Amino acid sequence: MIGRLNHVAIAVPDLTVAADQYRDTLGAKVGHPQDEPDHGVRVVFVELENSKIELLYPLGENSPIQGFLDKNPSGGMHHICYEVENILEARDHLMSTGARILGTGEPKIGAHGKPVLFLHPKDFTGTLVELEQV
Ligand code: CO
Repeated sequence: MIGRLNHVAIAVPDLTVAADQYRDTLGAKVGHPQDEPDHGVRVVFVELENSKIELLYPLGENSPIQGFLDKNPSGGMHHICYEVENILEARDHLMSTGARILGTGEPKIGAHGKPVLFLHPKDFTGTLVELEQV
């Protein structure tokens, strides 16, 4: 059901330091910071040949990234995103297996303007999984 790896998201305590490191130390193509108030994040996209890395920093009072950084002050992998062809079919299939969808269960428009859903990390080996319809 899942297709390509779309991105790996990493929560970071300092977005500039992290972006500089990916650009200057790792030699990656790094974009400019973008605010996504709907998701409570400021994000920098790192373009790799075969996928993307998203560097996430908290934006606003109730950012889900802040809680993550409180528990992981040096930052860390926040979620992994797989592509699916049909997000509603994927959701219905996953729910039929007992997997939990976060939030209302209805897809939201994600960072790339496409519908996304998040799956409960406890159902997927401790990893927050995002599904994005492509
Ligand atoms: Co994501």
